[in-house]
Amino acid sequence: MTTAQAARVVVDLDVPGPTISRHLYGHFAEHLGRCIYGGFYVGEDSPIPNEGGIRVDVVEALRALNIPNLRWPGGCFADEYHWKDGIGPKADRPTMVNTHWGNVEENNHFGTHEFMALCELLGADPYICGNVGSGTVQEMSDWVEYLTRDGDSPMVRQRKANGRDEPWRIPFWGIGNEAWGCGGNMRAEAYADLARRYATYCRDHGDNQLYRIAAGANKDDLTWTEALMKSISCLGCGRDPQNIFQAVSVHYYTVAGTWEEKGSATDFDLDDYHRTIAQARDVERIIRGHSAVMDAYDPERKVGLVLDEWGTWWDVEPGTNPGFLYQQNTMRDALVASLHFDVFHRHAERLVMANIAQTVNVLQAMLLTDGDGGLVRTPTYHVFEMNKGHQDATGVPVHVVEGQEVSASASVKDGRVLISLSNLDPVSARDVVLDLRGGELRQPTGRLLTAPKPQSCNTVSDPDVVAPAPLGLEPEPRGLRMTLPPHSFATVSSAW
Ligand code: AHR
Repeated sequence: MTTAQAARVVVDLDVPGPTISRHLYGHFAEHLGRCIYGGFYVGEDSPIPNEGGIRVDVVEALRALNIPNLRWPGGCFADEYHWKDGIGPKADRPTMVNTHWGNVEENNHFGTHEFMALCELLGADPYICGNVGSGTVQEMSDWVEYLTRDGDSPMVRQRKANGRDEPWRIPFWGIGNEAWGCGGNMRAEAYADLARRYATYCRDHGDNQLYRIAAGANKDDLTWTEALMKSISCLGCGRDPQNIFQAVSVHYYTVAGTWEEKGSATDFDLDDYHRTIAQARDVERIIRGHSAVMDAYDPERKVGLVLDEWGTWWDVEPGTNPGFLYQQNTMRDALVASLHFDVFHRHAERLVMANIAQTVNVLQAMLLTDGDGGLVRTPTYHVFEMNKGHQDATGVPVHVVEGQEVSASASVKDGRVLISLSNLDPVSARDVVLDLRGGELRQPTGRLLTAPKPQSCNTVSDPDVVAPAPLGLEPEPRGLRMTLPPHSFATVSSAW
């Protein structure tokens, strides 16, 4: 291990920036592979401890992350999901074929009530994605009524008959998913009109106010965002652009190879590592691009940008169903996550929500489970846990003056500061000097996530290869000094 010149990270503690919404730490659970069935949900008759069929160990592990919202039921699955098939007695629920993901039969045992129970157990806000691709306006409108209306109505009577008297609170509603692709192969203008129409009939019942999110662009397709923004704006006419839908989404995956050969999650060399980090860094260009287009139509930044799918996408683990998107997760994935969070924090004024794909057993997961009740916390899990103090904190500016392999961000909340630092160099350790302006740290503590190699991962038999440990901090005249090992992520937290 060699030590390069110290990087200087300047933090302006007394220059408050935008609030970092807790919803930037959101999650995504699709009926895909073993995310729902076998991941979150094992059924009431399973020998694996469960509450109403929901795995207790999974819930306990995720509660430590303070998950703010959970997007469901897809993804591509959302546009072939018919919610009425997933309510009522389980034995009466019709089955369907999940044509997107492995052509497996879906028994609809995990439906609306089960999802809402899961959100309650997690303490997460539900973010439901409705079906535009193969559904109807009436079907989506009925779902909103079923979930959120109080009093008496056709849908409310059905909900009550299924055991739930009180309406639920649903803050976030998606108007379809990837309408340019699996959600209907639409052109931008055609979808924009449909989104306006569907959004109109997704009513606010009683006190429930929906935040409607139009299905957005694929990575840097700015023309898609422009079509959506154009469809709701009339600059100078006095109408608020966010009246019809309140946000537009975008999806961006870190794919270091090609779609056909994405590369192995665990078997990679330094070139692959650097390509991955470069791809992950690109999320900043993408967010900046969409924000600039939105600024032109919505200079007051009333419409939110939502990155509701992000993360690494590798070849599936050898021997697993190609349609199930099951992949391992290494220290490299953890750094992709920490880099994304630094970018999210910097763009928190326009970027109001983000959802990693996906929470359990699919793509860049927090948790990997096996059929016998084994549970593994991935390196990415630990980044979410170490960074959770940024949720709803006030971002403060950070300047990395020397050290282009260092990524950093910081926030303040309730008299405490949290600073996140990544050493992206896969080979060399880096001394870092934290140069703190406008405040002093009192009793700082450091935490470090690193591993023997960037390829290191956690498994059921060896679950703590990559796990947080204390980080040594030395006082400096205006701050702190520390050594970040190669390929590592660290947090410094302190009163100030
Ligand atoms: O997350 C997996 C899939 O990726 C989602 O279903 C889809 O929206 C995206 O293409």
